[in-house]
Amino acid sequence: MATKKKHISENKKKKDSKVKVALLGFGTVGSSVARILATSKFPSIELTHIFNRNVERKRTSEAARTVASSVVWTDSIDVILRSDVDIVVELMGGLNPVEGWIRKALTAGKSVVTANKQLIAYRGPGLVKLAAQHKVHLVHGAAVAGGVPVIPGMLQGLCGDQVTKLSGIVNGTCNYILSRMEAGADYATVLADAQQLGYAESDPSADVDGFDARAKLCILSRIAMHAELDPDAVATQTISTVEAIDFTYAKELNCTIRQVSRAELDGKLVHARVAPMLVPLASPMAWSHGTQNMVVVSGRFGGDVVFSGHGAGGEPTAVAVVSDLLAVAQGCNTVELPIKKARGDR
Ligand code: NDP
Ligand code: HSE
Repeated sequence: MATKKKHISENKKKKDSKVKVALLGFGTVGSSVARILATSKFPSIELTHIFNRNVERKRTSEAARTVASSVVWTDSIDVILRSDVDIVVELMGGLNPVEGWIRKALTAGKSVVTANKQLIAYRGPGLVKLAAQHKVHLVHGAAVAGGVPVIPGMLQGLCGDQVTKLSGIVNGTCNYILSRMEAGADYATVLADAQQLGYAESDPSADVDGFDARAKLCILSRIAMHAELDPDAVATQTISTVEAIDFTYAKELNCTIRQVSRAELDGKLVHARVAPMLVPLASPMAWSHGTQNMVVVSGRFGGDVVFSGHGAGGEPTAVAVVSDLLAVAQGCNTVELPIKKARGDR
């Protein structure tokens, strides 16, 4: 056990050994991660296990065709927890039972990479502490804005600034729905398309009612403004009440409609909100179509920095996950600054 708890970077000093990886969840993102690992063949990484409930239908699916025959497919989480895998990649979503399994993995000396925003928004600080106690990593770059490196960008490139405001589009499903409604499509049809294309959460009300975006806003506020917000305290408004006629009225004002997430530091208070809002047609937010996300980070010294790209979808998200995986395999270090509880203004 003592050797297990060493940093992976130390373990991997032996050049010939590979970092062993288990995937938890073989859905939209999990299967894309497996495909990228099989295609790119990173020399330091070996996918050894895939865990999913009712795993046989996953093992025999089209998506499994690129997976090496040496990979162990299992529907027993204990097989993963008792294995010699170094990094567990969690791509199932939700809090339960995932939180308990991640705690066990960290305690067993395994680093964790996850794209799970609910888990990180609600339980992130406790899990990061647990990871540190066990000298392993918990990395979640794909939890906000899918394939857009806003989390690593803020952690590494903007930690020298004092960020005072975050604003933008952080839910790909809502952006896909609203930008297609702007072009004349109806809400129910485009929501069904977003589900079919793998953009939406398993319960799409998380997307359209703003719970997904507010979790992401809380993660960004923690990283950028060192302010710990309670996701339930963030004012959130659904996009499901937006109608075709609203786009006509918006156009008369030279605007369109997007789900916008905003957090602004005001002393010890954080004004945070997720809602469908009018955005000027001439603004970059209006140019974001489909699953595009856009985050504007405003700093006291550096001014505005804009992150943009695909915020949802299997492959863009899997790129972020695999990038985290490679970083952890090399013993990544991110800057950590103290975080204070912050009061929302709901
Ligand atoms: P999917 O629903 O496509 O895949 C989840 C997989 O995990 C499914 O195969 C599911 O099995 C399995 N699973 C879920 N719960 C359990 C459980 N309790 N025990 C065993 N297996 C389980 O989701 P996504 O791939 O879209 O998302 C995965 C994670 O990535 C989520 O946290 C999501 O929020 C996040 N994410 C997703 C993005 C996207 O664009 N899709 C973008 C960024 C982040 P089954 O088939 O039986 O349901
Ligand atoms: N359902 C989420 C979205 C997935 O549409 O943005 C990416 O986090």
